[in-house]
Amino acid sequence: MISLKQATNSKKDIDFLQRCFGSPDIMGCFQRTRVPGHETLRKRIVSQAENRKYLFLIVRGVRYIGFGYADRSRAFDHYEIGITIIPGMRRRGYGLQAHRLLLDYVIIRLKARRLVAYVSTGNKAERKVLASCSFVHEGTMRQAGVTRGVIHDIAIYGILKSEKR
Ligand SMILES: CC(C)(COP(=O)(O)OP(=O)(O)OC[C@H]1O[C@@H](n2cnc3c(N)ncnc32)[C@H](O)[C@@H]1OP(=O)(O)O)[C@@H](O)C(=O)NCCC(=O)NCCS
Repeated sequence: MISLKQATNSKKDIDFLQRCFGSPDIMGCFQRTRVPGHETLRKRIVSQAENRKYLFLIVRGVRYIGFGYADRSRAFDHYEIGITIIPGMRRRGYGLQAHRLLLDYVIIRLKARRLVAYVSTGNKAERKVLASCSFVHEGTMRQAGVTRGVIHDIAIYGILKSEKR
């Protein structure tokens, strides 16, 4: 059983997020790594609602097992979402559960009509999870992604509020 918690500016939340963002093991082959400073992360967390860029922790018991985000697009009428589960906790169904919790949160609490997820075409796990959540593959941006020097195609997955099951 897992739950989703909006990030706070507590040391525990910031330390965990900082560790995730900077770790190639945790971010996987398809996401960039960066190490935001403690203060940068704190400011981002404090201004989540104002900027409509939300960060979440995925919680199992007292442990954080991953994180997620939901960013309101400046250009389009949708939220971009993403989930990362730490390596030791993968392939136990938590990725799918976390996506479902985030989908509910963004549609119900943030009142989104449409969500989008950008995923490298080679990211089988994420594509499977998105398909299981009824996201539709809407197209592919060729050579749009670069992770640690490797170029990859990025699939666009979208879901409308009316399509959520
Ligand atoms: C993508 C990710 C969130 C999936 O989390 P997870 O907890 O491993 O996923 P689940 O255990 O819920 O598995 C969901 C499905 O994907 C499948 N799957 C998981 N890992 C897989 C892999 N490496 N290759 C192929 N299928 C995989 C599972 O078998 C399951 O399929 P099923 O529904 O047919 O049983 C996780 O792999 C991850 O954090 N990856 C790194 C970060 C990332 O790429 N995030 C996406 C950014 S766009």
